[in-house]
Amino acid sequence: MKVLVFGSFNIDHVYAMPHLPDRGETLYCKGYEVHVGGKGLNQALALQKAGATTVAAGKVGADGAYLTDYLKAGGVDISAVAVSDVPTGHTIIECDPDGQNQMILFGGANRVITEADCDAVLTAHGDAALLLTQYETSCVEPMLRKAQGAGIRTAFNPSPFVEALRDFPYELADCLVLNQSEGESITGETDPARIVRALHARNHGEIILTLGADGAIYYDGDALVQMPAYRVNAVDTTGAGDTFTGYCLQALLDGKSPQEALRIGQAAAAIEVTRPGAAETIPDRAQVEAFLQAQGE
Ligand code: RIB
Repeated sequence: MKVLVFGSFNIDHVYAMPHLPDRGETLYCKGYEVHVGGKGLNQALALQKAGATTVAAGKVGADGAYLTDYLKAGGVDISAVAVSDVPTGHTIIECDPDGQNQMILFGGANRVITEADCDAVLTAHGDAALLLTQYETSCVEPMLRKAQGAGIRTAFNPSPFVEALRDFPYELADCLVLNQSEGESITGETDPARIVRALHARNHGEIILTLGADGAIYYDGDALVQMPAYRVNAVDTTGAGDTFTGYCLQALLDGKSPQEALRIGQAAAAIEVTRPGAAETIPDRAQVEAFLQAQGE
């Protein structure tokens, strides 16, 4: 099944920190690496590895060819990625010894995507079964509106959270995938069951909420499904949500039950966090199956 992922492409500058710096604090890092990243890129690769026929759409600068080359080598169709005069987006990611991070985002080419770009993408790929997007590019709302208008099912990962997402027209997203803190910020609720119900009242569709160590929830207006998380030693949680999103959505597209889709998504994310990096550490399907077998499932 063809999935269109409209999203960001970033060069991730990752610093291993003794702890996350306090305000005004200067710290030496213990290591520095450059990784392939961006929520769009990561989610496109996760979907492809999970078994989708994936088309990535977005924008990079002249300095971003190695990002698109990386996706292409992973089997993703990159024909809908445009090249801009504006430099490629990048991040500065500080990662502590427990794998927790904080990030600075430079939007770059991700933020100069226009409605005309969206139209061109949909003209070329209007046959996609699903459009998935996040909130790191310009034109997210028009893209969701145009895709839904063209009869394409829409999935939205409202991340990273910014104020504008409180009043976002969530009816444009048939499926919402987000983490607990994003859910809390959008709805003002803290209880996960109340968060998913509040979001469902806004999109009338599927809600998939990740809860970190407490697992994940699926809710579509019927019974609420919750699956616990797998316990692993996290080294770097960057890209865990993207890995979960790609694997969970592909499992649902494959016709798996919500329970099974949450389980597969969480297994993929559990593997991803055990190694530093984002896109480069997304496991392939065989690794996810082996992990599940090792859990006795
Ligand atoms: O979700 C992880 C991603 O968020 C990183 O790869 C970084 O580029 C930011 O977009």
